Amino acid sequence: MFFRSLLQASALLPFLSATTSAQSSTACNNSPSLCSRAYNNITHLGAHDSPFLRDKSTSFSTSGNQYYNSTVQLDAGVRLLSAQVHKNGTTSNADKWRLCHSTCDLLDAGNLADWLSEIKTWMDNNENEVVTVLLVNSDDASASDLGPQFTSSGIDKYAYTPPSPSTVPTTWPTLDSLISNGTRLMAFVASLSEPSAQYPYLMDEFTFIFENDFENESPTNYSCTPDRPRGLTTSSTGGRMFFMNHFLYSTQLFGIQQPNDTYVNVTNAETGLGSLGTRIDNCTSVYSKAPTFVLVDFFNVGPAMASVDRANGVSRAVGRKSVTTAQPSEAEQNGDASPAMRRDGSIIAVVVAVMVAIAFGL
Ligand SMILES: *[C@@H]1O[C@H](CO)[C@@H](O)[C@H](O)[C@H]1NC(C)=O
Ligand SMILES: *[C@@H]1O[C@H](CO)[C@@H](O)[C@H](O)[C@H]1NC(C)=O
Ligand SMILES: *[C@@H]1O[C@H](CO)[C@@H](O)[C@H](O)[C@H]1NC(C)=O
Ligand SMILES: *[C@@H]1O[C@H](CO)[C@@H](O)[C@H](O)[C@H]1NC(C)=O
Ligand SMILES: *[C@@H]1O[C@H](CO)[C@@H](O)[C@H](O)[C@H]1NC(C)=O
Ligand SMILES: *[C@@H]1O[C@H](CO)[C@@H](O)[C@H](O)[C@H]1NC(C)=O
Ligand SMILES: *[C@@H]1O[C@H](CO)[C@@H](O)[C@H](O)[C@H]1NC(C)=O
Ligand SMILES: *[C@@H]1O[C@H](CO)[C@@H](O)[C@H](O)[C@H]1NC(C)=O
Repeated sequence: MFFRSLLQASALLPFLSATTSAQSSTACNNSPSLCSRAYNNITHLGAHDSPFLRDKSTSFSTSGNQYYNSTVQLDAGVRLLSAQVHKNGTTSNADKWRLCHSTCDLLDAGNLADWLSEIKTWMDNNENEVVTVLLVNSDDASASDLGPQFTSSGIDKYAYTPPSPSTVPTTWPTLDSLISNGTRLMAFVASLSEPSAQYPYLMDEFTFIFENDFENESPTNYSCTPDRPRGLTTSSTGGRMFFMNHFLYSTQLFGIQQPNDTYVNVTNAETGLGSLGTRIDNCTSVYSKAPTFVLVDFFNVGPAMASVDRANGVSRAVGRKSVTTAQPSEAEQNGDASPAMRRDGSIIAVVVAVMVAIAFGL
């Protein structure tokens, strides 16, 4: 009896190990079931303002949108990273194009090329993963301003070029074909005034994507209706991919908007008033299709990934590194008092700087 089950078990072994290795070698974006799906037929979890951190490196800036950096985000399964790109007028080198939140005085996360290098390093080490970068073009950089940052980081070698810069494809490639073609990076810019023959992989976001409103302060005020680009309706989106913004702002002193961190455990949860899971369901019923992208603050809380896995029908993801769903608190980590005072202090500093700039006509 014992022998027989042992024999049976050992006969199964080669199958088991073959299945396991086949699975791990063919998983795309953390699941074998996603490989044959088209890029636009998957829900990608996005980290809003990916490099803008609320951690020790920023003295727990209340302008930070994420507790963990872009590498940790990618390790945990985030596959779209957004960032604002600002021009820093004081320099002419790579430092000119910086990742800043609203202004470089409020939160400066370094230059664009360095951040792209960080992502490229991760992609070098994770060869079966398709990653999307969305640059919010705050100071109207041209393709010839941004392209060199992609080149110097080396990430351009992974970039996908669409068949046409101005026409929405009827079908996007599958993850499999993006991976085997070596074009695993999708690079969108909001917005790019003109496509570039030299940097054809830089895609104008609103040619290919539409978004719902992102300026929301209440869990009952989310909408699935197209907001950008202007002039679309839910029944007429021109074949664009749906990008679902799902985060809450709160208005602080002097009208400055900051991420609402006190409600994010519900905002990013699967159920609850204004939760990610509920909103994905709501918008899926509006478009008869899950959103292609969802964008969240503090991605680890919830965890937001659970609702995205559900939308993708993924039950056993592989190759992720887990991150706590807890919200780190400054007081706990630094052991010192009055984060509130520091927050108000930094806002006052910005307000003073802005007032000085206005007074001197800068
Ligand atoms: C999208 O994915 C679903 C679920 O796997 C599948 O049934 C459907 O055929 C796919 N559609 C396209 C256009 O890829
Ligand atoms: C990202 O954060 C992790 C964990 O805190 C740290 O080990 C790593 O050095 C950071 N990576 C970068 C590129 O900052
Ligand atoms: C340039 O960046 C520096 C450092 O972040 C900042 O202090 C300065 O205000 C920036 N200048 C402009 C014009 O944004
Ligand atoms: C893969 O690359 C080849 C050669 O560049 C191109 O013709 C083909 O369309 C690409 N396939 C996809 C799915 O992007
Ligand atoms: C929610 O939307 C309603 C109706 O548009 C508006 O009156 C209200 O001010 C909004 N609430 C918040 C907190 O933004
Ligand atoms: C965050 O949103 C919740 C739900 O609307 C609200 O009760 C809470 O006061 C907000 N937090 C902040 C800091 O504004
Ligand atoms: C969210 O956090 C609040 C305050 O810590 C707690 O009362 C509530 O139960 C949490 N909700 C969820 C869904 O985790
Ligand atoms: C969104 O989904 C929730 C939960 O399924 C439902 O109660 C609510 O009525 C839906 N809201 C809209 C606007 O569809």
